[in-house]
Amino acid sequence: MPEGSVLSRLAGEREVLFIGGKGGVGKTAVASALALQQARAGRPTLVVSTDPAHNLGHLWQRPVGDEPVELAPLLRGLELDPAKTTDEHLKAVRRTMERLMPDHLQGEVGKHLELARDAPGTHEAAILERVSEVVAGRSPDELIIFDTAPSGHTSRLLALPEMMQAWTEGLLRRQDRSAKFGAALRGLEGEDQRSADIVGTSRTSVGPRKTQDRRAKRDSEIKAILDRRQERFRSLRTVLQDPKRASFVIVLAAERLPVLETIELEQQLRRARMSVDALVVNKRSPRDGGDLLAARHLVEEGYIEQLRSALPTVPTVEVPLLPGEVVGEEGLTSFAQHLH
Ligand SMILES: Nc1ncnc2c1ncn2[C@@H]1O[C@H](COP(=O)(O)OP(=O)(O)OP(=O)(O)O)[C@@H](O)[C@H]1O
Ligand SMILES: [Mg+2]
Repeated sequence: MPEGSVLSRLAGEREVLFIGGKGGVGKTAVASALALQQARAGRPTLVVSTDPAHNLGHLWQRPVGDEPVELAPLLRGLELDPAKTTDEHLKAVRRTMERLMPDHLQGEVGKHLELARDAPGTHEAAILERVSEVVAGRSPDELIIFDTAPSGHTSRLLALPEMMQAWTEGLLRRQDRSAKFGAALRGLEGEDQRSADIVGTSRTSVGPRKTQDRRAKRDSEIKAILDRRQERFRSLRTVLQDPKRASFVIVLAAERLPVLETIELEQQLRRARMSVDALVVNKRSPRDGGDLLAARHLVEEGYIEQLRSALPTVPTVEVPLLPGEVVGEEGLTSFAQHLH
């Protein structure tokens, strides 16, 4: 990709890039080509797949997994494993709950967590936790490129910090109330205890007092966990919503539905205060590749026109349909040359 092109400038200036779009449009190819270009220019880069159906490993022709692996000098790859992430997340929650919940509720805890595994949003929440960890662990001059799952999922993922924050804040408020309620109870008990002492009816009241203390300790532990989580999501959101630090790139084909969905996705992202700073129209049919492709080329022109008039301020980059598959460092190098 030529120096100074829209995409290389964007990648050079940002800390975090999200590459989104429908299935099979070329997200992984664009993410990897940009990552390779930045790494070759001397910037440490991490390309992270958040899509459960990963194809980073396929494209680079080597195994990539849940721990970063080196793909090229200064370039690392990582595929977030949603099942493993959810598992670890639920295990951590279980450990905390087992420690904090009274014995008679332990069975309930287990049942709830098993249900939570398949509840809507659990995988997304787990992935989002990892995304925030990756962003928080970024080294100062590193570029992180997220190769995301097809569009619907991506915009939900990005709207999640907002939802999570509202949810966590609700919990915290409830927690505050119950902490206050607990303190009030303890105050009353203290009064009762003193009056009982005065009238000489005191029994062994150490039990209830101990229970109260344990509950107070538990309340503050839960609050600390929720606070930490909220802080993580808040700092992720701060990065995502800062147009100087994070950008979204949508990859699409010049066809009717993809164009409409791209316009819709851009609106969703804008509502979530993320900025879409480039569109990549991939697999453009050539004008000079025979009648069939020339006809396709013309049809595509119409859709690109529609895209440009709906999103006039977002730069559009066109990448031609290539004769072969985009695989390996060589394939990516030649793909990158077409990203103008
Ligand atoms: N410009 C192009 N010309 C020809 N083939 C391409 C081009 N761009 C991508 N491809 C091929 O299209 C296929 C899909 O590309 P890629 O895996 O990057 O898409 P994706 O959006 O990441 O897909 P998924 O949603 O499945 O993750 C791959 O086989 C890739 O080699
Ligand atoms: Mg992909």
